[in-house]
Amino acid sequence: MIIVENLKKYFSTSKGLLRAVDDVSFEITEGETLGLVGESGCGKSTLGRLLLRLYEPTEGKVLFDGNNIFSLSSNELKKWRQEAQMIFQDPYASLNPRMTAEDIIEEPLKIHKIDIDPGIIAKTFQQVSLNPQHRSRYPHEFSGGQRQRIGIARALILNPRFIVCDEPIAALDVSVQAQIVNLLKDLQRQMGLTYLFISHDLRMIRYIADQVAVMYLGKIVEKAPTELLYQKPLHPYTQALLSAIPLPDPVAEKKRTRIVLSGEVPSPLQPPKGCGFCTRCPKALGICKDIAPPLKEVEPGHFVACHLFQ
Ligand SMILES: Nc1ncnc2c1ncn2[C@@H]1O[C@H](COP(=O)(O)OP(=O)(O)O)[C@@H](O)[C@H]1O
Ligand SMILES: [Mg+2]
Repeated sequence: MIIVENLKKYFSTSKGLLRAVDDVSFEITEGETLGLVGESGCGKSTLGRLLLRLYEPTEGKVLFDGNNIFSLSSNELKKWRQEAQMIFQDPYASLNPRMTAEDIIEEPLKIHKIDIDPGIIAKTFQQVSLNPQHRSRYPHEFSGGQRQRIGIARALILNPRFIVCDEPIAALDVSVQAQIVNLLKDLQRQMGLTYLFISHDLRMIRYIADQVAVMYLGKIVEKAPTELLYQKPLHPYTQALLSAIPLPDPVAEKKRTRIVLSGEVPSPLQPPKGCGFCTRCPKALGICKDIAPPLKEVEPGHFVACHLFQ
């Protein structure tokens, strides 16, 4: 359903050009979840926002059902804006404190000038397991998990097909994280939704995602079906990320060796000339400093950008 081609987003800053998203290409299949992981600052949110056209790209395309979202006519854009929605990390910051839950949830209908059918609010409340009797309450009168349900209801009311979930559980108590993820999974099944699910919680990503893309310094360094990626990570960066996850089995946990990376992530203002990861890579070769490896399919569905596999 979504094909991303050579997408770039460079920000002009007072310190120069910042390469937040630097030439990424990938696809998302309808009805599936693509998990996007990587350290803070690697470009995940910028990529998510590009996919919703909240930013104009420096270069590249995002094809949605074959049409580039950056060259839609104004009528097509209006229709597409209903099909693609976002769920934010911090529901408290993204909900207007002076609006009731009902006003917040029905606002997208007003923005898109869609008639408000009297039953739709109650139906949407029920879809996300909120009590419709609480429709006149304000955001501060709800718990964190309930506020995220309001954020989800707001995204659902236009009956979208694609939702970018940008760290939707990161600000929530651990005890409610699983409930929200399970709600998102149920809604996906019922409505055939497609998700880009951004998270740095690698265990949650394994639970929710069908495919996983690993991002480092504005680039996708590995992408594979979820179980393949977790069982056979190829990129040294993915290996390091996965080695940091504690294992549930105590015997395996005892034997787990953590790959600790040295140094810091380079600045996206001055990325290395060759592979972005070469300054920290325990397996770097001579070529890595000079030439950036392209993302290459090394077995069906398994893509990796690393000279060890070219
Ligand atoms: N609007 C902006 N203007 C300038 N730089 C930005 C802007 N948004 C993000 N950045 C920079 O782009 C890089 C990627 O940011 P972001 O996409 O938020 O990463 P992540 O979501 O992975 O933490 C960071 O270096 C960030 O400081
Ligand atoms: Mg982010």
